[in-house]
Amino acid sequence: MSQDQQRVAVVTGAGSGFGAAIARKFAKDGVAVVVCDINDDAGKAVTDDINAKGGKAIYVNCDVAKREAWERLLAETTQKFGGVNFVINNAGATYKNKPVLDTTERDFDLCFDVNMKSVFHSVHVMIPALRETRKRGGPAAIVNVASTAGIMGRPGLTWYAASKAACISCTKNLAIEFGPEQIRFNAICPVFGNTGLKHMFMGETTEDMFIKSIPLGRCSEPEDIANSTVFLCSDEASFLTGVALPVDGGRLA
Ligand SMILES: NC(=O)c1ccc[n+]([C@@H]2O[C@H](COP(=O)([O-])OP(=O)(O)OC[C@H]3O[C@@H](n4cnc5c(N)ncnc54)[C@H](O)[C@@H]3O)[C@@H](O)[C@H]2O)c1
Repeated sequence: MSQDQQRVAVVTGAGSGFGAAIARKFAKDGVAVVVCDINDDAGKAVTDDINAKGGKAIYVNCDVAKREAWERLLAETTQKFGGVNFVINNAGATYKNKPVLDTTERDFDLCFDVNMKSVFHSVHVMIPALRETRKRGGPAAIVNVASTAGIMGRPGLTWYAASKAACISCTKNLAIEFGPEQIRFNAICPVFGNTGLKHMFMGETTEDMFIKSIPLGRCSEPEDIANSTVFLCSDEASFLTGVALPVDGGRLA
Protein backbone atom coordinates (compact mmCIF):
# COMPACT_ATOMS: atom_id res chain seq x y z
CA MET A 1 0.00 0.00 0.00
CA SER A 2 1.40 3.37 -0.90
CA GLN A 3 0.47 5.39 2.16
CA ASP A 4 0.84 8.69 0.35
CA GLN A 5 -1.77 7.74 -2.18
CA GLN A 6 -4.39 5.59 -0.59
CA ARG A 7 -5.66 5.55 2.98
CA VAL A 8 -8.08 2.86 4.09
CA ALA A 9 -10.86 3.06 6.71
CA VAL A 10 -12.88 0.21 8.18
CA VAL A 11 -16.27 1.44 9.43
CA THR A 12 -18.49 -0.92 11.42
CA GLY A 13 -22.26 -0.53 11.43
CA ALA A 14 -21.89 1.43 8.20
CA GLY A 15 -25.17 0.23 6.71
CA SER A 16 -27.14 3.05 8.29
CA GLY A 17 -27.16 6.07 10.58
CA PHE A 18 -23.87 7.52 11.78
CA GLY A 19 -21.77 4.73 10.24
CA ALA A 20 -23.17 5.26 6.73
CA ALA A 21 -22.42 9.00 6.98
CA ILE A 22 -18.89 8.29 8.28
CA ALA A 23 -18.25 5.90 5.35
CA ARG A 24 -19.56 8.46 2.84
CA LYS A 25 -17.46 11.28 4.32
CA PHE A 26 -14.26 9.19 4.22
CA ALA A 27 -14.99 8.27 0.60
CA LYS A 28 -15.63 11.91 -0.30
CA ASP A 29 -12.22 12.74 1.19
CA GLY A 30 -10.53 10.09 -1.00
CA VAL A 31 -10.19 7.36 1.63
CA ALA A 32 -11.01 3.78 0.52
CA VAL A 33 -13.75 2.40 2.76
CA VAL A 34 -14.64 -1.03 4.06
CA VAL A 35 -18.34 -0.92 4.87
CA CYS A 36 -19.16 -3.53 7.57
CA ASP A 37 -22.53 -4.51 8.91
CA ILE A 38 -24.74 -7.48 9.72
CA ASN A 39 -27.48 -6.02 7.53
CA ASP A 40 -26.21 -7.06 4.08
CA ASP A 41 -28.82 -5.18 2.06
CA ALA A 42 -28.16 -1.92 3.87
CA GLY A 43 -24.36 -2.34 3.79
CA LYS A 44 -24.34 -3.18 0.07
CA ALA A 45 -26.58 -0.21 -0.72
CA VAL A 46 -24.19 2.21 1.00
CA THR A 47 -21.22 0.55 -0.76
CA ASP A 48 -22.89 0.76 -4.19
CA ASP A 49 -23.78 4.39 -3.60
CA ILE A 50 -20.18 5.29 -2.66
CA ASN A 51 -18.79 3.48 -5.73
CA ALA A 52 -21.42 5.06 -8.00
CA LYS A 53 -20.26 8.49 -6.83
CA GLY A 54 -16.62 7.75 -7.68
CA GLY A 55 -15.45 6.55 -4.27
CA LYS A 56 -13.79 3.25 -3.45
CA ALA A 57 -15.68 0.86 -1.19
CA ILE A 58 -16.23 -2.81 -0.50
CA TYR A 59 -18.84 -4.42 1.70
CA VAL A 60 -17.95 -7.10 4.28
CA ASN A 61 -20.49 -8.83 6.50
CA CYS A 62 -19.10 -8.62 10.03
CA ASP A 63 -20.76 -9.27 13.35
CA VAL A 64 -18.52 -7.11 15.51
CA ALA A 65 -19.15 -9.25 18.60
CA LYS A 66 -17.37 -12.22 16.99
CA ARG A 67 -13.61 -12.62 16.73
CA GLU A 68 -13.73 -14.75 13.56
CA ALA A 69 -15.77 -12.04 11.80
CA TRP A 70 -13.04 -9.49 12.58
CA GLU A 71 -10.40 -11.88 11.23
CA ARG A 72 -12.36 -12.26 8.00
CA LEU A 73 -12.85 -8.50 7.86
CA LEU A 74 -9.11 -7.88 8.14
CA ALA A 75 -8.31 -10.57 5.55
CA GLU A 76 -10.75 -9.08 3.01
CA THR A 77 -9.55 -5.54 3.73
CA THR A 78 -5.91 -6.49 3.25
CA GLN A 79 -6.64 -8.52 0.14
CA LYS A 80 -8.55 -5.66 -1.49
CA PHE A 81 -6.69 -2.58 -0.28
CA GLY A 82 -3.35 -3.87 1.03
CA GLY A 83 -3.70 -2.61 4.60
CA VAL A 84 -5.68 -0.42 6.95
CA ASN A 85 -5.19 3.02 8.49
CA PHE A 86 -8.38 3.78 10.39
CA VAL A 87 -10.85 1.61 12.28
CA ILE A 88 -14.15 3.15 13.33
CA ASN A 89 -15.93 1.09 15.98
CA ASN A 90 -19.36 2.53 15.31
CA ALA A 91 -21.73 -0.48 15.30
CA GLY A 92 -23.92 -0.30 18.38
CA ALA A 93 -27.05 -1.73 19.90
CA THR A 94 -29.38 -1.16 22.80
CA TYR A 95 -32.65 -2.33 24.29
CA LYS A 96 -35.78 -0.20 24.40
CA ASN A 97 -35.60 2.35 27.23
CA LYS A 98 -36.99 0.79 30.43
CA PRO A 99 -36.54 0.79 34.22
CA VAL A 100 -33.44 -1.12 35.28
CA LEU A 101 -35.35 -3.87 37.10
CA ASP A 102 -37.20 -4.65 33.86
CA THR A 103 -33.96 -5.19 31.95
CA THR A 104 -32.78 -8.74 31.22
CA GLU A 105 -29.44 -10.47 31.08
CA ARG A 106 -29.96 -10.57 27.32
CA ASP A 107 -30.27 -6.75 27.26
CA PHE A 108 -27.04 -6.49 29.22
CA ASP A 109 -25.21 -8.95 26.94
CA LEU A 110 -26.45 -7.19 23.80
CA CYS A 111 -25.03 -3.86 24.96
CA PHE A 112 -21.71 -5.23 26.18
CA ASP A 113 -21.20 -7.64 23.26
CA VAL A 114 -21.95 -5.16 20.47
CA ASN A 115 -20.76 -1.92 22.10
CA MET A 116 -17.79 -3.14 24.10
CA LYS A 117 -16.56 -6.64 23.26
CA SER A 118 -16.39 -5.38 19.67
CA VAL A 119 -13.68 -2.95 20.73
CA PHE A 120 -11.78 -5.80 22.42
CA HIS A 121 -11.85 -7.81 19.18
CA SER A 122 -10.97 -4.80 17.04
CA VAL A 123 -7.89 -4.14 19.15
CA HIS A 124 -6.69 -7.75 19.15
CA VAL A 125 -7.24 -8.23 15.41
CA MET A 126 -6.47 -4.79 14.01
CA ILE A 127 -3.48 -3.61 16.07
CA PRO A 128 -1.01 -5.94 14.29
CA ALA A 129 -2.23 -4.55 10.95
CA LEU A 130 -2.00 -0.97 12.22
CA ARG A 131 1.57 -1.68 13.38
CA GLU A 132 2.40 -2.78 9.83
CA THR A 133 0.86 0.45 8.56
CA ARG A 134 3.02 2.47 10.97
CA LYS A 135 6.13 0.58 9.80
CA ARG A 136 5.35 1.78 6.29
CA GLY A 137 5.01 5.33 7.62
CA GLY A 138 1.23 5.60 7.29
CA PRO A 139 -1.15 7.12 9.85
CA ALA A 140 -3.02 4.78 12.19
CA ALA A 141 -6.02 5.63 14.37
CA ILE A 142 -9.04 4.03 15.97
CA VAL A 143 -12.20 6.01 16.77
CA ASN A 144 -14.77 4.45 19.09
CA VAL A 145 -18.31 5.80 18.82
CA ALA A 146 -19.45 6.06 22.45
CA SER A 147 -22.25 8.38 23.63
CA THR A 148 -23.04 11.31 25.88
CA ALA A 149 -24.82 8.56 27.84
CA GLY A 150 -21.38 7.23 28.77
CA ILE A 151 -20.63 10.51 30.52
CA MET A 152 -23.97 11.70 31.92
CA GLY A 153 -26.95 9.67 33.11
CA ARG A 154 -30.46 9.56 31.66
CA PRO A 155 -33.23 7.31 32.94
CA GLY A 156 -33.95 3.92 31.41
CA LEU A 157 -30.63 3.17 29.68
CA THR A 158 -28.41 1.98 32.52
CA TRP A 159 -26.59 -0.93 30.85
CA TYR A 160 -26.34 0.85 27.48
CA ALA A 161 -24.82 3.86 29.26
CA ALA A 162 -22.46 1.61 31.24
CA SER A 163 -21.23 -0.03 28.02
CA LYS A 164 -20.51 3.41 26.56
CA ALA A 165 -18.70 4.52 29.74
CA ALA A 166 -16.55 1.39 29.42
CA CYS A 167 -15.92 2.29 25.78
CA ILE A 168 -14.69 5.75 26.82
CA SER A 169 -12.52 4.29 29.57
CA CYS A 170 -10.82 1.75 27.31
CA THR A 171 -10.26 4.44 24.67
CA LYS A 172 -8.23 6.49 27.15
CA ASN A 173 -6.24 3.49 28.37
CA LEU A 174 -5.53 2.32 24.83
CA ALA A 175 -4.43 5.84 23.87
CA ILE A 176 -1.83 5.72 26.63
CA GLU A 177 -0.64 2.21 25.77
CA PHE A 178 -0.31 2.78 22.03
CA GLY A 179 0.69 6.46 22.07
CA PRO A 180 4.43 5.62 21.87
CA GLU A 181 3.70 3.71 18.64
CA GLN A 182 1.77 6.69 17.21
CA ILE A 183 -1.44 4.68 17.02
CA ARG A 184 -4.11 7.11 18.20
CA PHE A 185 -7.34 6.25 20.00
CA ASN A 186 -10.22 8.69 20.41
CA ALA A 187 -13.92 8.46 21.21
CA ILE A 188 -16.86 10.39 19.84
CA CYS A 189 -19.79 11.00 22.19
CA PRO A 190 -22.89 11.82 20.15
CA VAL A 191 -26.03 13.21 21.69
CA PHE A 192 -29.46 11.80 20.71
CA GLY A 193 -29.40 11.63 16.92
CA ASN A 194 -31.55 11.12 13.88
CA THR A 195 -30.90 7.42 13.18
CA GLY A 196 -32.51 4.00 13.38
CA LEU A 197 -31.68 3.73 17.10
CA LYS A 198 -33.44 6.95 18.07
CA HIS A 199 -36.76 5.38 19.08
CA MET A 200 -34.95 2.96 21.42
CA PHE A 201 -33.63 5.82 23.54
CA MET A 202 -36.98 7.43 24.25
CA GLY A 203 -38.89 6.34 27.33
CA GLU A 204 -41.01 8.87 29.08
CA THR A 205 -38.79 11.52 27.56
CA THR A 206 -40.28 12.83 24.31
CA GLU A 207 -38.19 14.05 21.41
CA ASP A 208 -39.15 17.64 22.31
CA MET A 209 -37.85 17.14 25.85
CA PHE A 210 -34.58 15.74 24.50
CA ILE A 211 -34.18 18.70 22.18
CA LYS A 212 -34.89 21.21 24.97
CA SER A 213 -31.88 19.77 26.85
CA ILE A 214 -29.57 20.56 23.90
CA PRO A 215 -28.43 24.22 23.87
CA LEU A 216 -28.03 24.32 20.07
CA GLY A 217 -31.66 23.23 19.84
CA ARG A 218 -31.58 20.11 17.65
CA CYS A 219 -30.62 16.44 17.60
CA SER A 220 -27.30 15.34 16.18
CA GLU A 221 -27.34 14.48 12.48
CA PRO A 222 -25.23 11.68 10.96
CA GLU A 223 -23.13 14.31 9.15
CA ASP A 224 -22.20 15.96 12.51
CA ILE A 225 -20.80 12.66 13.73
CA ALA A 226 -19.12 11.92 10.39
CA ASN A 227 -17.35 15.29 10.28
CA SER A 228 -15.92 14.88 13.79
CA THR A 229 -14.93 11.24 13.29
CA VAL A 230 -13.11 11.87 10.02
CA PHE A 231 -11.41 14.90 11.59
CA LEU A 232 -10.09 12.72 14.43
CA CYS A 233 -8.45 10.48 11.80
CA SER A 234 -6.97 13.36 9.84
CA ASP A 235 -3.41 14.71 9.89
CA GLU A 236 -4.82 17.88 11.47
CA ALA A 237 -5.68 15.77 14.54
CA SER A 238 -2.27 14.08 14.75
CA PHE A 239 -1.66 15.35 18.31
CA LEU A 240 -5.09 14.26 19.59
CA THR A 241 -5.32 10.99 21.42
CA GLY A 242 -7.33 9.82 24.44
CA VAL A 243 -10.04 12.39 23.74
CA ALA A 244 -13.74 11.67 24.36
CA LEU A 245 -15.27 14.34 22.16
CA PRO A 246 -18.90 15.24 22.85
CA VAL A 247 -20.70 16.00 19.59
CA ASP A 248 -23.74 17.17 21.43
CA GLY A 249 -24.80 20.72 20.64
CA GLY A 250 -23.69 21.71 24.14
CA ARG A 251 -25.72 19.09 26.03
CA LEU A 252 -22.83 18.36 28.43
CA ALA A 253 -21.73 22.01 28.75
N1 LIG B 1 -28.59 7.63 17.48
C1 LIG B 1 -28.26 8.11 18.66
O1 LIG B 1 -29.01 8.87 19.28
C2 LIG B 1 -26.92 7.77 19.27
C3 LIG B 1 -26.44 8.57 20.31
C4 LIG B 1 -25.21 8.26 20.86
C5 LIG B 1 -24.46 7.20 20.38
N2 LIG B 1 -24.97 6.43 19.36
C6 LIG B 1 -24.13 5.34 18.87
O2 LIG B 1 -23.88 5.53 17.50
C7 LIG B 1 -23.55 4.29 16.90
C8 LIG B 1 -24.30 4.13 15.60
O3 LIG B 1 -25.67 3.99 15.86
P1 LIG B 1 -26.80 4.70 14.99
O4 LIG B 1 -27.49 5.64 15.89
O5 LIG B 1 -26.24 5.18 13.71
O6 LIG B 1 -27.81 3.48 14.80
P2 LIG B 1 -28.28 2.65 13.52
O7 LIG B 1 -29.19 1.61 14.07
O8 LIG B 1 -28.79 3.57 12.47
O9 LIG B 1 -26.94 1.99 13.00
C9 LIG B 1 -26.31 0.94 13.66
C10 LIG B 1 -25.79 -0.03 12.62
O10 LIG B 1 -25.05 -1.04 13.31
C11 LIG B 1 -25.38 -2.29 12.74
N3 LIG B 1 -25.14 -3.34 13.73
C12 LIG B 1 -25.88 -3.67 14.81
N4 LIG B 1 -25.34 -4.71 15.45
C13 LIG B 1 -24.22 -5.05 14.76
C14 LIG B 1 -23.24 -6.07 14.90
N5 LIG B 1 -23.31 -6.95 15.91
N6 LIG B 1 -22.23 -6.12 14.01
C15 LIG B 1 -22.16 -5.24 12.99
N7 LIG B 1 -23.07 -4.28 12.78
C16 LIG B 1 -24.09 -4.19 13.65
C17 LIG B 1 -26.85 -2.17 12.37
O11 LIG B 1 -27.24 -3.15 11.40
C18 LIG B 1 -26.90 -0.75 11.85
O12 LIG B 1 -26.65 -0.68 10.45
C19 LIG B 1 -23.88 3.22 17.95
O13 LIG B 1 -22.69 2.80 18.58
C20 LIG B 1 -24.76 3.96 18.93
O14 LIG B 1 -24.72 3.40 20.21
C21 LIG B 1 -26.18 6.69 18.79
